[in-house]
Amino acid sequence: MNSMTSPIFAVTFKKVSDLISQNPEDLLFRICELLKKEVYHYDWVGFYILDQEKKELVLGPYVGKPTQHTNIAVGKGICGQVAESGRTMVVQDVTQVENYISCGLDVQSEIVVPVMKDGHFVAELDIDSHSPAPFNDEDSKFLARICAQLADRF
Ligand code: SME
Repeated sequence: MNSMTSPIFAVTFKKVSDLISQNPEDLLFRICELLKKEVYHYDWVGFYILDQEKKELVLGPYVGKPTQHTNIAVGKGICGQVAESGRTMVVQDVTQVENYISCGLDVQSEIVVPVMKDGHFVAELDIDSHSPAPFNDEDSKFLARICAQLADRF
């Protein structure tokens, strides 16, 4: 836990861990709710899950504005690129990147963190922010820890 120096991340990580051990039926949705509520700059929080056969991401539980992007091909947009590389992507200004799928004009930045299982990409946690350039290394580490704990749920 000492790599998370910001109290908000340490406290929220504990709440997420507690939820995971309680294992409610709607665990993924509850995690989305918790993250959006606790972290000011998280405005849309959702999971996309890989459909290995179709080579596309399918929208899972989320909180925030409904999106029309319920299916995203691997390689397309920030989400699809993370599915391809298995690596976290941070976009501090969505107007500056080309391979981006817009989910609304109020979105300014985005972070997408992969969920890896046995070395393979299985899902991802996608967070949009209405703040400009809000993400730092702590966001990445915090979210990567959560995703690591969720690997066996996919
Ligand atoms: N912006 C994403 C699409 C998903 S929405 O943010 C919910 C992308 O470029 O892949």
